[in-house]
Amino acid sequence: MRILFSTALIVGRLFLARGAAPAPNTGDVSCIVTASSGDDGPAFVDAVQRCDSVTIPRETTLSIATRMNMTGLKDKNINLLGTIKFTSNMSYWINNGFPFEFQDQIAFWIVGGKNILINGGGTIDGSGQVWYDAFATNSALLRPILLTIYKATDVAIKNITMINSPEWFNFVNEGKNVVYDGINISALSTSKNLAKNTDGWDIYRSDNVSIMNSNINNGDDCVSLKPNSTNVIASDLYCNGSHGISVGSLGQYAGVYDIVENFTSTNVHMYNAQNGARIKAFAGPGVGSGIVKNISYSFFTEGNVNNPLIVDQCYMTNATECTAYPSNVYIQDVTFSNFKGTSSGKMKSVVASLACSPDDRCNNISVNDISLEPPSKDGSATYSCQNVNITGNAAYLFGNCKTT
Ligand SMILES: *[C@@H]1O[C@H](CO)[C@@H](O)[C@H](O)[C@H]1NC(C)=O
Ligand SMILES: *[C@@H]1O[C@H](CO)[C@@H](O)[C@H](O)[C@H]1NC(C)=O
Ligand SMILES: *[C@@H]1O[C@H](CO)[C@@H](O)[C@H](O)[C@H]1NC(C)=O
Ligand SMILES: *[C@@H]1O[C@H](CO)[C@@H](O)[C@H](O)[C@H]1NC(C)=O
Ligand SMILES: *[C@@H]1O[C@H](CO)[C@@H](O)[C@H](O)[C@H]1NC(C)=O
Ligand SMILES: *[C@@H]1O[C@H](CO)[C@@H](O)[C@H](O)[C@H]1NC(C)=O
Ligand SMILES: *[C@@H]1O[C@H](CO)[C@@H](O)[C@H](O)[C@H]1NC(C)=O
Ligand SMILES: *[C@@H]1O[C@H](CO)[C@@H](O)[C@H](O)[C@H]1NC(C)=O
Ligand SMILES: *[C@@H]1O[C@H](CO)[C@@H](O)[C@H](O)[C@H]1NC(C)=O
Ligand SMILES: *[C@@H]1O[C@H](CO)[C@@H](O)[C@H](O)[C@H]1NC(C)=O
Ligand SMILES: *[C@@H]1O[C@H](CO)[C@@H](O)[C@H](O)[C@H]1NC(C)=O
Ligand SMILES: *[C@@H]1O[C@H](CO)[C@@H](O)[C@H](O)[C@H]1NC(C)=O
Repeated sequence: MRILFSTALIVGRLFLARGAAPAPNTGDVSCIVTASSGDDGPAFVDAVQRCDSVTIPRETTLSIATRMNMTGLKDKNINLLGTIKFTSNMSYWINNGFPFEFQDQIAFWIVGGKNILINGGGTIDGSGQVWYDAFATNSALLRPILLTIYKATDVAIKNITMINSPEWFNFVNEGKNVVYDGINISALSTSKNLAKNTDGWDIYRSDNVSIMNSNINNGDDCVSLKPNSTNVIASDLYCNGSHGISVGSLGQYAGVYDIVENFTSTNVHMYNAQNGARIKAFAGPGVGSGIVKNISYSFFTEGNVNNPLIVDQCYMTNATECTAYPSNVYIQDVTFSNFKGTSSGKMKSVVASLACSPDDRCNNISVNDISLEPPSKDGSATYSCQNVNITGNAAYLFGNCKTT
């Protein structure tokens, strides 16, 4: 074993009991990062670059005042027992957050490379409140994403709490073989200003991503599959206050082809939400194109959800416009099965809605074992659809909706 000395780090052999926590990346250099009274960002980045395994001890809170570039890593284990807290210096972050062209985002922290594990039961804190309050009076404000996995293969993020991200919590951008397991997310504003756009996960240009066994309390999508998300699983999730498990929006940008293929979402509890299971694609003049293929949503239990089950292939487009300019994002081989629970009544008695563009742009959509009810004041459940032929044992609920 090699011991590395540094004034910024307390270095030594980790004394964690063998087998107590998963540590597949344990090479021969282990480091412990403790808090200074200033910016701990540079010391943390330095430790991760130099050591195989980096521990942030239980009682430690690292204060991060500068952006962290941890790309190009190989075989690293970040054992987060304590807390990583980003400062609320808005002017710094607005000017220095890592820029991402996709949906004009910025990021606090980018992690990339190969074979990376982040675990340990600790917390990542985005100091979101100042951002929620500032965004209320400036809707053009750029707000940083909490954790971005960028150009990475074989990444596992396990047993971590994430609180008060200013924007999305997790962005997987050009990732492959990425697992999130046992993540607790909470965005809670203490003022009247909501914690907006605090998506749990956004996946983009990534393949083989799993999100499981997690609790999410937030103010936007629980999980969102953006363009080119393939072989994704979102399972065993408890989502509260969100906009649902979303495929899309897709087809937003002219000249761009978007793919979402092989997505399974199962065992999801969805409460107080705008949507449950959702697929959305833009229509109208000057939009993009793409394909949504082989999507399975099953075993959803919902309560107080505006749209428990929804496909909208005329997103942001009125009916006339959608007929004139149907969506160029085709949707096929989709199954919804075993949905139960209650809607909010926002859509009166409608508990499920499948709205497709004309000209057979939704194909092979199957609906099985649906038991969703509106609040009793709204009468018995109704189902809505347009331009789609539905199969499955619950197809009859949607009446005689046929594409003609
Ligand atoms: C991050 O650091 C790597 C390696 O030093 C560098 O190549 C890359 O340009 C940096 N990324 C950003 C976004 O600054
Ligand atoms: C915020 O960051 C700026 C640099 O962008 C720096 O000049 C200023 O001192 C920081 N403010 C605080 C309170 O740390
Ligand atoms: C999560 O981390 C805590 C604190 O380190 C640990 O006690 C617990 O066993 C971990 N849980 C799992 C599932 O690894
Ligand atoms: C997440 O919350 C669950 C349920 O409250 C708890 O059992 C688990 O330990 C929490 N995980 C972390 C990483 O704190
Ligand atoms: C998908 O990722 C998981 C977890 O990293 C890995 O075990 C599995 O082999 C990957 N699957 C493929 C087809 O690469
Ligand atoms: C769930 O969300 C609702 C509404 O968004 C909120 O009032 C409630 O406190 C949340 N529940 C928990 C357990 O956080
Ligand atoms: C998605 O992948 C397809 C096929 O590789 C590619 O043509 C398209 O440009 C990609 N779209 C995006 C948004 O990256
Ligand atoms: C559909 O996707 C699932 C994973 O979500 C995969 O197991 C299955 O093989 C895919 N089916 C087809 C026909 O591609
Ligand atoms: C979807 O899954 C099928 C079956 O496993 C596989 O053949 C196909 O390549 C996958 N599609 C993508 C885009 O990965
Ligand atoms: C539909 O949208 C188009 C384009 O925005 C607009 O010109 C038209 O007035 C709208 N029609 C209705 C009925 O709202
Ligand atoms: C319809 O979709 C299901 C589920 O993705 C798939 O198994 C089946 O092969 C598809 N049927 C046709 C005719 O493509
Ligand atoms: C739906 O069924 C009608 C006839 O019942 C047929 O004309 C139309 O092509 C079908 N559409 C699709 C997408 O299969």
